[in-house]
Amino acid sequence: MKTFRVDLKKVVDDSYDIEIGYELAEKLVEDIKNGLVGRIRRFAVITDTNVEKLYAEGIADRLQAAGFLTDLFVFEAGETQKTRKTKEQLEDAMLAKGCRRDCCVIAVGGGVVTDLAGFLAGTFGRGVPFINYATTLLAAADASVGGKTAVDTPLATNLIGLFNQPEKVYIDIDAWKTLPKRQMISGMAETIKHACLADFTLFSYLEQNMDAIYAGDREACTYIAEANCRIKYQVVMKDERESGLREILNLGHTVGRAVETVSGYRLLHGEAVAIGLAAEVQLSKLLGYMTEAEVLQVNRLLEKAGLPVTLPSYIDREELVRKLYTDKKVRDGRLRFVLQRGIGSVVEFEPGCYAVPVAEETARQIIATL
Ligand code: GLY
Repeated sequence: MKTFRVDLKKVVDDSYDIEIGYELAEKLVEDIKNGLVGRIRRFAVITDTNVEKLYAEGIADRLQAAGFLTDLFVFEAGETQKTRKTKEQLEDAMLAKGCRRDCCVIAVGGGVVTDLAGFLAGTFGRGVPFINYATTLLAAADASVGGKTAVDTPLATNLIGLFNQPEKVYIDIDAWKTLPKRQMISGMAETIKHACLADFTLFSYLEQNMDAIYAGDREACTYIAEANCRIKYQVVMKDERESGLREILNLGHTVGRAVETVSGYRLLHGEAVAIGLAAEVQLSKLLGYMTEAEVLQVNRLLEKAGLPVTLPSYIDREELVRKLYTDKKVRDGRLRFVLQRGIGSVVEFEPGCYAVPVAEETARQIIATL
């Protein structure tokens, strides 16, 4: 018998810029002209029916006008469309148009679009580059940065995907003015999550400036866009693959993701995360990491943002407990939770370990309070 060793040590530079500003479409095209994705001349702009007319068509037109071969691929808006089926349909449409390994994907939209298009780019022709042009607060705060790409399955959200980093992220704050209020509120949940886990100053800022943000005040919106970005990329730079620290970005998501699925996507992602944060602060208090006053302060901010902190009556609580086991943090069959310490910090249970096993009965007890 003979054994051969295929030596494949890798040194990878996946660094990229995140540009935050207003009306960045022209800048995107300029960057491409200046070599953002090398010599690529062919672009697949992927978007959903909400964003098609608002931003994606304009970006595709500008690229065409600049001499790049560009096609627009549009799928029905909504979390229920973030599936393997939609990915397959988009892939077939791209192949039919002649896209091959020499193309670049541009995801224009919110978290559903950037998650799906980033995953597609990672497998199309065994991988083509992609750029995120984020048009929602949720995508700005979370989805577009960090390279987690995925689709949902009937069992739970984000179970099939890749770590795949974009070439660049554009966060167009101007686009937030086109968001339905409910979508803007949903995006605020990830911002509150960031404040809870890393930044008490951001938390206080949100307490004082929520109305200004919702009114589209430029200074306030820019402040939260930059704060979100800073918190997110500082974590991702230290632990891209979620072997430890990155789990802190899961704050509120253990219960949140389960609520989202059990609601049949009647609740938006951020609404479900807000309920998850309400559960998590109760658990933090039960385990001695938060005071009653801090729990109330978090709940008050969530409510001030217009987010729910209790479960809708149609949610079956036992089904919710069972659904907790689809969480990716489950280890050896045990539920694990990230917990905050006070407001603006998380608990490090052991060096480099930020999630703690929690008995099912304790989780059930917490869910009963919601
Ligand atoms: N959305 C959590 C993360 O990016 O890790």
